[in-house]
Amino acid sequence: MTTVAQDLPDTGVPRGGVFTGDSQGLHGLVLDVRGGTVPAYTSSGCVAHGELAGLLAGRTDRLDPSAPDSVFHREEHEPLPGERRPVPFLPKSRLLTPAEQRVAAECFARTLATGELTSGPAVATFEAALADFTGLHATATSSGTDGLIVALRSVGVEPGDEVIIPANSFAATENAVLACGAVPVLADVEPERHTLDPVSAGAAVTSRTRAVLPVHLYGRLADMAALRRTADAHGLRVVEDACQAIGVTGVGRHSDAAVLSFNPYKNFGLTGKAGAVLTGDGELAERVRAIAYHGFHPDTKNVKTEPWGLNSKIDNPIASVAMGLLPGLTLKNYRRAFLAGRYVTGLAELHAAGLLTLPSFTPDHAWHLFTVRVPGGPAERERIRARVREDGGVETDIYYPVLTHRQRTPLHGRLFSRSRLPHTEQLHTTAFQIPLHNQLSLTEQNRVIEALHAAVRPTAR
Ligand SMILES: Cc1ncc(COP(=O)(O)O)c(C=O)c1O
Repeated sequence: MTTVAQDLPDTGVPRGGVFTGDSQGLHGLVLDVRGGTVPAYTSSGCVAHGELAGLLAGRTDRLDPSAPDSVFHREEHEPLPGERRPVPFLPKSRLLTPAEQRVAAECFARTLATGELTSGPAVATFEAALADFTGLHATATSSGTDGLIVALRSVGVEPGDEVIIPANSFAATENAVLACGAVPVLADVEPERHTLDPVSAGAAVTSRTRAVLPVHLYGRLADMAALRRTADAHGLRVVEDACQAIGVTGVGRHSDAAVLSFNPYKNFGLTGKAGAVLTGDGELAERVRAIAYHGFHPDTKNVKTEPWGLNSKIDNPIASVAMGLLPGLTLKNYRRAFLAGRYVTGLAELHAAGLLTLPSFTPDHAWHLFTVRVPGGPAERERIRARVREDGGVETDIYYPVLTHRQRTPLHGRLFSRSRLPHTEQLHTTAFQIPLHNQLSLTEQNRVIEALHAAVRPTAR
């Protein structure tokens, strides 16, 4: 049966005081709520923190799923005994709540009426709010992919340069490098984090290497301090693909630039494609801004400060939607962190028995995806996925099914035929993702936990 009884280890993150809504703060809050006492928190005043700040100022009981009006989603009707209700992996019709859909529609309609459909005032407002939330300069872009291209070009990646990336990412990572005319070079990942290994990255450096592009896969921060040291030892620039890691403490701290995505499937998903480039460097921020819009000076129409640029700024209507939805951002990340902790405790027995490997419940995670691993190989993984689907009605997924060096285009054959990435390949054959999204209900999560217990336990085979 489902148990959510065992406690999570206390990672010692600071508690109480000013609450900024980053992953460390949310991690501490999850531990507080599970421990039954929430200390006094004051809000940083960030817009992104608005809804959660409201709760911290009074109704902290609503942060606990046992409250009748808790912030966790519930199903309208509990399943009847014996009723088999499916648990979709990421239901498109529930990406935004009905209330969020109304907010988005109102924001969109307001900007439609002004006719400011490309540039417009909401863009700067949203960028300022993002800067406030992250403590970095922010340029909002038309997607995370475009943000990556803009960031790479802005740090000086030129045609023919090499950029070191992991092989287990969404194609946007390698495509951004290719779009710059540069060459993606693959390095292996760390087995616990699933993110770029600083030692392997160091070994991949050649005289043509210009930058390192780590990916905070599933929302877990790569070992950025070590990657920065590797980069500094070789005079390289660092761009973070933080498309899955909004709100993670430390994003942008050890790099030249970090890139977020707000596509509808992300933690902070909007009503279409959007992203942002973050940087702590004011001069670089100017270049990012110019390259994101035709190389133009940000305040002077049609006058170039850069020889080249893209048409990659966010549109005003979507920036307006972003502002409408922004106050819910850290509450969404809180729910994800809480549900991740609930998976970790609910599946702890299977982990302890060596039947399923769980991620550690760490404070450097946005919990974009919850990834588990099986001890066997792909056949065992498929057996378990089939059982949870057929017996439990639970849909799972694999991110990403084809590693970069296993793609079958002539270019991939030419570039990567000799790539050897043992950790990446090992993880790739054993990992899969279980449902974790902004509106996953507690009862759905219980069904996932039950289905995994039934599918994985040897007695149940
Ligand atoms: C790791 C990673 N990099 C880049 C991207 C690209 O972001 P976007 O879809 O906003 O272009 C995504 C999102 O799909 C992603 O998950």
